[in-house]
Amino acid sequence: MARATVQWLWTLFIVVAMGNGANGNNNIGVNWGNMASQPLPPPNVVGMLKDNGLNKVKLFDADSSTLNALAGTGIEVMVAIPNDMLSRMNTYRHAKDWVKKNVTKHLYNGGVNIRYVAVGNEPLLASYNDSFKQITLPALQNIAKALEGAGHGDIKVSVPLNADVYESSSTVPSSGDFRGDVKDLMLDIVAFLKEKGSPFIVNIYPFLSLYQNPNFPEDFAFFDGNGKSITDNSRTYNNVFDANFDTLVWALKKNGYGDLKIVIGEIGWPTDGHIKANNKYAKKFYDGLLKKLAANKGTPMRSGPLEAYLFGLLDENTKSIDPGDFERHWGIFRYDGQPKFPMDLNGKDNTKKLIGAKGVQYMESKWCIFNTNATNQDNISASVDYACSMSDCTSLGYGSSCNDLDVNGNISYAYNMYFQMNEQSVEACDFDGLATITSNNASQPGCLFPIEVVSSAIKHNIVPTHVVLLSFMLMLLVLL
Ligand SMILES: *[C@@H]1O[C@H](CO)[C@@H](O)[C@H](O)[C@H]1NC(C)=O
Ligand SMILES: *[C@@H]1O[C@H](CO)[C@@H](O)[C@H](O)[C@H]1NC(C)=O
Ligand SMILES: *[C@@H]1O[C@H](CO)[C@@H](O)[C@H](O)[C@H]1NC(C)=O
Ligand SMILES: *[C@@H]1O[C@H](CO)[C@@H](O)[C@H](O)[C@H]1NC(C)=O
Ligand SMILES: *[C@@H]1O[C@H](CO)[C@@H](O)[C@H](O)[C@H]1NC(C)=O
Ligand SMILES: *[C@@H]1O[C@H](CO)[C@@H](O)[C@H](O)[C@H]1NC(C)=O
Repeated sequence: MARATVQWLWTLFIVVAMGNGANGNNNIGVNWGNMASQPLPPPNVVGMLKDNGLNKVKLFDADSSTLNALAGTGIEVMVAIPNDMLSRMNTYRHAKDWVKKNVTKHLYNGGVNIRYVAVGNEPLLASYNDSFKQITLPALQNIAKALEGAGHGDIKVSVPLNADVYESSSTVPSSGDFRGDVKDLMLDIVAFLKEKGSPFIVNIYPFLSLYQNPNFPEDFAFFDGNGKSITDNSRTYNNVFDANFDTLVWALKKNGYGDLKIVIGEIGWPTDGHIKANNKYAKKFYDGLLKKLAANKGTPMRSGPLEAYLFGLLDENTKSIDPGDFERHWGIFRYDGQPKFPMDLNGKDNTKKLIGAKGVQYMESKWCIFNTNATNQDNISASVDYACSMSDCTSLGYGSSCNDLDVNGNISYAYNMYFQMNEQSVEACDFDGLATITSNNASQPGCLFPIEVVSSAIKHNIVPTHVVLLSFMLMLLVLL
């Protein structure tokens, strides 16, 4: 009898454990940004999250169509206040209003499982020249107070920070501390996070180490343990992620916060727009990262599970390319929700495929290309520059997927991107007669000439069917 019970418990345990495996890894979340000309409709994206067992999502705003799609799913959500709203949040009344409209509104029975509010996004980035330095902490404090006031004290606040808020005076993590110009502020922020039981959220990018420093040892950006290693107080580091993370652990420890919880807010690898940004490198990075996360071993200074949000979910073709052309290619899925390369979120089987978004609607299969027969060819270069500046030509550059196009291919690529990102409007494929629309797929080997998706952002511009029907009937009446 007892034996049977034990066996039954074991079966239950195994079922629960397997269920958990199939439903995804609880240490992994994903960043869902929306800076795209034609964003995938939120319901398609949410379906994709569920199909892949992704049960934590980090947003960059609190857009209500996104949150409505997440309602009732149980997915843990981090909503965010963009940097340009931080100054407004320095007034408590506005913070209270923000919480009411963007948090409380979604917390009805069967609503959204909001777990965190991110106040700003990397507001202390060195390249922002202190633009948000004075307004970050007051915004954080006001939002925390407003959440508590509204009875949502269980929702944690934090500020996702770039790893550039700390540095190391030598190459070893143990010499880490907060960046001099923000150190006092960081100590105040960290004290506040500790008091509120909130995590430190940090974005760590091994790709950028490689990108910014041509002499960076390539293997050190990955997790395979090949090549260079660093020894620090008898701890061995064979990848830049561990070294970077532990630099933060040391910075916290030195200042009296050695046990503050750390969450990785962004980590990932782009797949286009740079010679080291492609599916092969990205797969290598994710294979190592996901295996590491699944092992629950942590870093040399912090053992145990790590919680990380992958960056990002989808490619975003209207992001700023100030950081580099790769910036629009961070998705583990393409712009249309289709997986780019095999990936197992459970870190076990690196031949496994992610499940693509279902029910995606594409625009018509037509492309805009260079009309080689055009009589006046004077304005090609100006029109290409214009098309690229208003669309996305980040796949054309050196080392990118479309770098092998010939001159005519380059021109067509630019025209086509402009055309697709402008909803295939006929006027967007003219360029003084230099361009023409074709139904022949203009893609070249390795270089996709994409057809955009029908986005929810434009759906409400389409005349509803019943209106069309009604007009048709009225017309018939008039004719009769
Ligand atoms: C907060 O809600 C308001 C009103 O619904 C909305 O206009 C605004 O975009 C939301 N804020 C963010 C950061 O998404
Ligand atoms: C920061 O300062 C540098 C150098 O003065 C300048 O080039 C850059 O545009 C500034 N950035 C911002 C975001 O103000
Ligand atoms: C240019 O003209 C040739 C010959 O008439 C035709 O075969 C070709 O399709 C034309 N090219 C374009 C881009 O229209
Ligand atoms: C050349 O193309 C640009 C961009 O399409 C346009 O603004 C400009 O008027 C054109 N110039 C001529 C001479 O056609
Ligand atoms: C196509 O454009 C890219 C980006 O401007 C450039 O690097 C490449 O050399 C061009 N190719 C040709 C054949 O002109
Ligand atoms: C065009 O061709 C490319 C490359 O073969 C393919 O991946 C893409 O799906 C095609 N597009 C359409 C709309 O058929």
